[in-house]
Formats: sequence, structure tokens, C-alpha cells
Amino acid sequence: MSRTHLAITPELGVYLDRVAYREHPVLTRLRTETALMPEASMQIGPEQGALLALLVRLVDARRIVEIGTFTGYSSTAMALALPADGRVVCLDVSAEWTDRARAAWEEAGVADRVELRLGPAVESLASLEDGAFDLAFIDADKPNYDNYYERALKLVRRGGLIIFDNMLWSGKVADPGVQDADTVALRALNEKLHHDERVFVSLLPIRDGVSLAVKQCD
Ligand SMILES: C[S@@+](CC[C@H](N)C(=O)[O-])C[C@H]1O[C@@H](n2cnc3c(N)ncnc32)[C@H](O)[C@@H]1O
Repeated sequence: MSRTHLAITPELGVYLDRVAYREHPVLTRLRTETALMPEASMQIGPEQGALLALLVRLVDARRIVEIGTFTGYSSTAMALALPADGRVVCLDVSAEWTDRARAAWEEAGVADRVELRLGPAVESLASLEDGAFDLAFIDADKPNYDNYYERALKLVRRGGLIIFDNMLWSGKVADPGVQDADTVALRALNEKLHHDERVFVSLLPIRDGVSLAVKQCD
């Protein structure tokens, strides 16, 4: 069985940037601006934005919860893929970073589809209605990923989709010598998801690793 993953050469990178995704001009501007920030690596990549948008359409999502918004790339990409009456509930602790997200929602004409709740996500999640969401995107503090997963499993309907970013964590999950809290949490969650009968799971080695879990329990 081949385990070969294609190396992304500079030439292939240019080719991918040309054909692998369609990026809304607001997202291109947001990505370019965020790239100047010291925290730029927290932003998802454009091919991930396209994947999120496709998944929103695939599950016919109308209600989305996002845990970890930063400057708004993923929420804007998903909101643009929603129908006009769709909603994304965005959870984050940073007013500063999400101010830039608000501007992106305005610029993209989707501000009326987005609701921002500032504060620790564990607390914000407790006030959301069980079964009311079609999709959850988890992209915040790693030690809480399992808490977010368990809560998201209650929030999404049967057949709903839970998406996790950073599940390969720069490859550190596969290195037993790395034992920091973030890596340990993500490694444990990968093992848990692999055996969890409540969901169908696929870990895609795109960027830093994107896991998809489809809820198959009530
Ligand atoms: C990796 S970034 C999210 C990137 C974003 N999805 C994007 O597309 O650009 C992680 C975000 O999680 C937020 N965060 C960290 N800990 C949090 C917590 N306990 N509750 C809510 N948000 C948190 C940070 O403020 C940061 O904006």
C-alpha cells in the first residue's frame, strides 16, 4: 500500500494556487493583510477555505458553529457558501482579532449571516441549542478540542459534520518524543476519533491536517 504523499514543490504550489480553489476577493485581501501579522500562521489556507465552503454545500448547512474565528477567513468562506437565511455562530476570546473579522463579513456582504460571541468557547457553547446545527468547525485552543468535540456532538444533528483543523500539528502527533499539552491533546483525540462509533471519520492530510467526523448517532 502506497503511503506516498506528493511533495509540494514551488512549481506545484504555483499550479495549486492557480487551479485548486476559487477565492473571493475579500478573502484574498484578508489573507494578504493577515499574512503581515505575527500570528498569521493561525489562519487557514485558501484551499481549506474552499474545502469548508464545499462541505457547507455538501451537507446543505444552514446553521454553523465555529470555534476559533481569528481575523475571519474560515467564517467568511463558510458564510459565503450559506443560503441567505443561513447563520454562522462564531466563538472567540479576542475582540481585537475579531474586529478584523467583522470588517471582512461586512465587505463580503454576509454580516447578517454571522453572530459573534466573545468569551471562552466552553462557556459560549453551553448556551447553544442541542441539535440546532448542521456543521461545527473546531479551530481554537488545542487542549480543549475534546471538550469542543463532545459539545459539538450534541449541537449537530444526526448526519451533521464536525471539522477539526490542525490534527497533524506539524507532524508532532506522530513523534512520541513530543509531549507538550497541545500535541498530547491532539494525539489523544486522533486515537479517540479513530475508535469512536458515534461518527464516521476521515483525517485528510491537507495543510496541517483536517479531520472530518459525520455524526451517526442520535
Ligand atoms: C487558529 S485561530 C482560528 C483561525 C480561523 N479559523 C481562521 O480561519 O483564520 C484560533 C482562534 O481561537 C481563539 N481562541 C483561543 N482560545 C480560545 C478559547 N478558549 N475560547 C474561544 N476562542 C479561543 C483565538 O483567539 C484565535 O482567534
